[in-house]
Amino acid sequence: MDIDYGTIHEDEWAEHFTLLSQAFNGPVKEERPHPYLSADKVIVARSGGALVGAAAVADFGQVFEENVLPMGGVTGVAVAPHATGRGVARQLMTDLLHRMIEMGHVVSLLSPSTSRLYRSVGYETANTWMWRALPLDALRSDVPDGITVELAGTEVFDDLRGMHEAHARRSHGWLIRDEWLWSRKKWMAENSETHMRIWVAKRDGVPVAIGSVRNKADSNVAFAEYDFQFHDVFGEPDGLTAIAATLRTQSTMAGYLHTTLGPADLPALLDRPEVAEVRMQDPMMGRIVDLPAAVPMRGGGRFEGAIHLRVHDPLLPRNDGAFVIEWSGDELGITPGGDGTIEVGVGDLSSMFSGYQAPISLAARGRLGPSAGDADVQRLGRWLACPTPVVTDAF
Ligand SMILES: CC(C)(COP(=O)(O)OP(=O)(O)OC[C@H]1O[C@@H](n2cnc3c(N)ncnc32)[C@H](O)[C@@H]1OP(=O)(O)O)[C@@H](O)C(=O)NCCC(=O)NCCS
Repeated sequence: MDIDYGTIHEDEWAEHFTLLSQAFNGPVKEERPHPYLSADKVIVARSGGALVGAAAVADFGQVFEENVLPMGGVTGVAVAPHATGRGVARQLMTDLLHRMIEMGHVVSLLSPSTSRLYRSVGYETANTWMWRALPLDALRSDVPDGITVELAGTEVFDDLRGMHEAHARRSHGWLIRDEWLWSRKKWMAENSETHMRIWVAKRDGVPVAIGSVRNKADSNVAFAEYDFQFHDVFGEPDGLTAIAATLRTQSTMAGYLHTTLGPADLPALLDRPEVAEVRMQDPMMGRIVDLPAAVPMRGGGRFEGAIHLRVHDPLLPRNDGAFVIEWSGDELGITPGGDGTIEVGVGDLSSMFSGYQAPISLAARGRLGPSAGDADVQRLGRWLACPTPVVTDAF
């Protein structure tokens, strides 16, 4: 089977939809065209002129402590059943990584259906997407003074965007969403078949929190489903509390409210945050795409002296080699060279870079090479010490 790779053509979108729909068991026909990424972000594989594979990248930011790094969010990786097992997905991912470099992405993130494929192109577990179930009858019932709650339409998504970004910028690991993800959110709110309602909490007429809620995904049985799900929710704690109090009035059948909000926000929603149960935890895989650019952008903790790395990245030559990382004033610099005392694959480095794995844990498993001493590992630990990353968006 001869296969060639390239950017999608404008007349291939219908075929692309069919390919993805088959791979992810989606609808047979596209009833209402949904927003998708622009052609320059979609790479396809063709055989005999027909599409047999695709992969795409969204233009996100990702928060690393207080800095936002340009991040390529991989989505829509699919290979036609008759073309699998020939390395098509691996080649698409390789081409996509080069495209990410052209687009200025310095890191990448994806939600893996198989880790073997992505590990083989340098990704490693680097984040977690999780959601929790909050019993509806345990939601807070106090409405803070001066806050009112009312229903709205998707026009409030412009306010929601500002609230989300403010929240994301102080949450390690979160995404800064691009136009595509926002248009997809809006499309889902407008086309949801599961009774979506958008609640806005206001103080003096100004929105302070917004929560869009639907009946649990995959349920479209009116009046018979008592599990709700936050499609999206952000804002000030008092506003979140007022929205929780509104939803609590719907708790007569004692269902659950599902949310990706994490520990810092739960006290605004629940009197006893500890009753929230983690119901799903999905590993996300990440990769450093451009190490020399990513290091100064990320910054990190202060350390004395220099970190000498020997990075192995067979796919992306700019990351493969020896580097010295050190502070000079307020700038964290990276220069080629040094003795490569810490020897590490790009996957393990990516996992430490996000804060998912601690250097000391990898060192104990012999993954930082034979010449990494305690002081070297400690320095790496000081640089990359940060909270455990979480991501609240699926894409
Ligand atoms: C997953 C999928 C993209 C793989 O495509 P493919 O072209 O067959 O993959 P490749 O031939 O490039 O495989 C690359 C590596 O991943 C492994 N791999 C591929 N699919 C795998 C699977 N489902 N489970 C475990 N390993 C898998 C291959 O064995 C190969 O590793 P190896 O060389 O060490 O044996 C394709 O089966 C598909 O479209 N599935 C449905 C949609 C989907 O799950 N997409 C991915 C979303 S993240």
